[in-house]
This record gives sequence, C-alpha cells and structure tokens, in this order.
Amino acid sequence: MDGAGELLKHETDTRRAPRHVAIIMDGNGRWATQRGRPRLFGHHAGAKRVREVVEACPDLGVKYLTIFAFSTENWKRTQVEVAGLMSLFRRYIAKEARALFEKGVRVRFIGDRVQLDAKLIALMDELEQLTAGNDGVNLTIALNYGGRDEVARATKRLAEDVAAGKLDPADVDQETLPKYLDTYVLPDPDLVIRTSGEARISNFLLWQSAYAEYEFIDTLWPDFTHEEFARLVAGFGARERRFGSVPA
Ligand code: FPP
Repeated sequence: MDGAGELLKHETDTRRAPRHVAIIMDGNGRWATQRGRPRLFGHHAGAKRVREVVEACPDLGVKYLTIFAFSTENWKRTQVEVAGLMSLFRRYIAKEARALFEKGVRVRFIGDRVQLDAKLIALMDELEQLTAGNDGVNLTIALNYGGRDEVARATKRLAEDVAAGKLDPADVDQETLPKYLDTYVLPDPDLVIRTSGEARISNFLLWQSAYAEYEFIDTLWPDFTHEEFARLVAGFGARERRFGSVPA
C-alpha cells in the first residue's frame, strides 16, 4: 500500500488512535496582529476553535484531550492581556458549560488554582461537578499550569506524607510521583500537538510526555480545523511506537 493509502486506512482505524492528545494552542497573538487587531481578538478566535476540536474527538477515537490555556509563565504578559484572558476563561466556562454537559464531556482543570480569582475558581469547580458523571470525552484544561510547578507541588505533598509517616522513602519509585501530580487520574499523553511553528514544549506535561509523539505544525491556533486535527491523529496511527525497545 502506498503512503496515502496507508494514511487513509488509518483514518478509519480508531484502534490506532492516540487515546490522549495534548495541545499547546499557540499563535493567537500573531493571528490577531496579522489582522491589525489586539491580541485578545486572537484569544477570542482561539477559544472558538476549542469546541470544534472537542467535538471531533469521539469520531477520531480520542478519549482524552488536554489543552494548555494559561501557563504559570503567562502572568508576565501585560495586565490588559492577563485580565482579558481571565475574563475570557470565565465567559467561556459560563457559556459552554451546558453544551459540554449535554455532549457527555467530562471537564477537569489542572494547574495551581491559588493565584486565580475566586469567581473563576467557583466556575471551574461548578463545571467539574456538573460534568463529573459524564463518560464521554475527558477534556482537561490546563490553567495556571506549569510542568515544573506541578512537579514541585507534587514533591511537596509527597514529602509531607513522608514526614507524617504515611510513606516510606524506601517505597518511592517512578510509580509514586505520578500519584501526586495534578493529572493522577489521566493516562499519559500519546500525542502532543503544538501549533504556530514553535518547536518547544514550554513546560507542558513534562513528566507525563516522556514517551509522547510530537507534532509541531505551522498553523496558528485560530486557523486550526477539525480536518487538520484528523490528519494529525491519522498520522499518529501510522507511527511505530517503541517505548525504548527494538521492533519485534
Ligand atoms: C498562546 O498564543 C495562547 C495562549 C496563551 C492562550 C490560549 C488560550 C486560548 C486558545 C483561549 C481559549 C481557551 C479556553 C480554554 C477558553 P500566544 O498569545 O502566545 O500567541 P503568539 O505566540 O502568536 O503571541
């Protein structure tokens, strides 16, 4: 079978779909600047793309989708942009909650909530509770998330358990730390996509992505479509994953 035929075969083969796809949604600012508009215009356009990608998951066989909405480093942006993003997150949750619930999506948030405002935290809690009984796509939104920060917070809790006599240091191995990470209920990502042409992982799911496949694509996030998503998922099905071993 030639390359295109092979790809088409995998397009309908959800058994080889990545169970967990994680996306770094980059390029909103540039997309807006190209149109002579403020950066927040790009973030609003980007938010609209989230629904399309979430809705594409069931047919593609993607059970877990994790999206990077705001990093622990994003506080360094201007006060206007940060406030605009926080307001966008509040509006997005309030506006999309019903549709997400009705589509069977289970929503979770990862990241450190301490620095977020009380209204946003309340909306996040409400959406998690509203969708807790759903068994469709697992959408995880990383908000004030940083991989190093997550590992540091996990390590602190692990150390507290050791100090309290609940955990024996002799029992600590590579299965222990993930239980303390924000993602403890999620499988590791199989495929990480970053839009906008940057080939960096920018502190996203550092521990969890040890064996992930990566796709760095030039498309700016507000231009990302379900067709492109389907193409990347199909491409994943055609890859051979070895997890450090040699082919059989
Ligand atoms: C990166 O683009 C994007 C962000 C920091 C924010 C991501 C947020 C959204 C897509 C909005 C909606 C999300 C949800 C969950 C409602 P950038 O600003 O770094 O773009 P640039 O690199 O072109 O400047």
